[in-house]
Amino acid sequence: MTDQKHNLSFDDWDEVNFPRPEENDFDRVVERAVSRRGFLGSVLAFGSGAAVMGTGLLKGTTALAETHAMKNRFPFTPIDIATDHEVHVPEGYTSKVLVSWGDPLFSDAEGYDVNAGGGAVAGSDRVFGENTDGMELFSFEGHEIIAVNSEYTNNDENLPADQEGVPANADDVLKLQNLQGVTVMEVAPGDDGYSVVVDSPFNRRITHNTPMTIAGPAAGHDLMKTEADPTGTTSLGTMNNCGSGRTPWGTYLTCEENFNGYFGSTDADAARPDGYDRYGIGADGWGYDYHKYDARFDYSKNPNEPHRVGWIVEIDPTDPESTPIKHTGLGRIKHENAACAVAPDGRIVVYMGDDERGEYMYKFVSNGTWAPGASTEGLLDDGTLYAAKFNDDGTGEWLALTPESTGMASLAEVLIFARMGASAVGATTMDRPEWIAVNPHAVEAYCCLTNNKNRGVKANAGGDETPVNGPNPRETNNFGQIVRWRPSEDDHAAGTFEWDLYVMAGNPEVYPNNEYGGSDNVTPGNMFNSPDGMAFDSNGLLWIQTDGDYSNEGEFEGHGNNQMLVGDPVTGEIARFLTGPNGSEVTGVCWSADRRTMFVGIQHPGGSWPTGEGLPRSSVIQVTRDDGALIG
Ligand code: FEO
Ligand code: CA
Ligand code: CA
Repeated sequence: MTDQKHNLSFDDWDEVNFPRPEENDFDRVVERAVSRRGFLGSVLAFGSGAAVMGTGLLKGTTALAETHAMKNRFPFTPIDIATDHEVHVPEGYTSKVLVSWGDPLFSDAEGYDVNAGGGAVAGSDRVFGENTDGMELFSFEGHEIIAVNSEYTNNDENLPADQEGVPANADDVLKLQNLQGVTVMEVAPGDDGYSVVVDSPFNRRITHNTPMTIAGPAAGHDLMKTEADPTGTTSLGTMNNCGSGRTPWGTYLTCEENFNGYFGSTDADAARPDGYDRYGIGADGWGYDYHKYDARFDYSKNPNEPHRVGWIVEIDPTDPESTPIKHTGLGRIKHENAACAVAPDGRIVVYMGDDERGEYMYKFVSNGTWAPGASTEGLLDDGTLYAAKFNDDGTGEWLALTPESTGMASLAEVLIFARMGASAVGATTMDRPEWIAVNPHAVEAYCCLTNNKNRGVKANAGGDETPVNGPNPRETNNFGQIVRWRPSEDDHAAGTFEWDLYVMAGNPEVYPNNEYGGSDNVTPGNMFNSPDGMAFDSNGLLWIQTDGDYSNEGEFEGHGNNQMLVGDPVTGEIARFLTGPNGSEVTGVCWSADRRTMFVGIQHPGGSWPTGEGLPRSSVIQVTRDDGALIG
């Protein structure tokens, strides 16, 4: 059924529910025209490679990075695009599946059969979850433990086929709730690569019903209280867990993204509190239909429940009895991932993106400082949240979100409605900020701006105009770009920064003569669209994963299936390393403790990948070098 809500992307569903304000008043038209004239100047700079290849900001690159300059650091021959239902890696490398949706984490779930109506409700919280996404590997007392997100469900596959993706009862909803959240699993190497250690005491499923603690300035605020939790300090579940992060002290950060889709109302006329429009909360929901069978998600009965989602959650992967903590100090947005850095004085910095067309980039800076072994209590709760403002001249600043700067009533409200706070201070609307990665070898960070068909066309959900601007320089941007910034004084806690574009994706064959061809480091041999997942390896190479148009047609001809590339931040070179099976996005990457195995997430594959029969199954794969050498 093509008209099913759950077959729309989250962004498109939001727009159907909440049409964006039309940009038709005279002032906006004039402003856009002025911005476009400014853009024509900047295209020359990007086109010449000045910004991308580093004659500008790269002058400040650290000595370590400069010693590598202009040497190709990729130890493989880049691969061609693919359009088939397989994973491809370069010659001399091998990939195989580590774990797929429905595989048992505990022996009592052995035999769980996803092909029997999408799997039974019994055992659905004892198996590896659906739609794998962000992940991190933790090395602990000789054990290797992966924490990995299960972002959303594929209702057409997770429910009996004759239901066409529509939950029919409370058991269906419970199964969907169980298949999402976070999986913590021990993995161990053997003769034939890594496998999951079934029944490891570290194994754990965190679902939409797992008890959480709410911490930080918004904890206990009236907007966080519900009938079931009159204190506003505990909630159930973490949901739409997209990208990931890791703290310097070895805990996992999971990031709640399109949480709005889980909520609905059995009374279409029920009041819709402030903020529902901006965050896209409507009576129908995305198609999970939780609200019909689980009153917690029915906002006519529990109007504050949506305020308790949209946060970053900290999980201790080494203690399966620990209660995950929702850190309200980090703000409530549609979180992509959380990239941590330690400032020279020991303060913790967390960079975060809000993945929706025309939303913002954020960072949190703690008040307290951290040192190895020191207490971390309150570090992620007590601090200042900022939104990014990019100036067209290559400079930028972080705008503090406070009651004073936003005009909002309290810090709790600033954090619960961080989007409105960022609008109030005039932050820069971005082309869907996805993953942010911090370079371990230079004081700089990168953010994937995946695409934005509304750039220069429509306002964001808050009515903020989205004219083309410095880091988002293309109207109707279907290809995406990666922006990077270098904080002033080599301090991630600094209030200002300089920025440039690392790459503008594009199609130089379809658009050889304009900005949609991409920057100079995009060629017919490495082209791609919609950069999304991203992580640095220990060598300072940047792994870039895509979630875009895989039709291989029209302006995407030559891009093939979604893929993973590796970029050199110093030279600007980019090479294609892996292609995913048709239909999938490639998302989530981490490494074994010895760095000889790379784990990569393959989400929502098509066909019958990976087994060739039955339902397609989202999986984590492992990639090794045939000579056993390091792989990042
Ligand atoms: Fe879950 Fe923005 O990707
Ligand atoms: Ca993503
Ligand atoms: Ca994406």
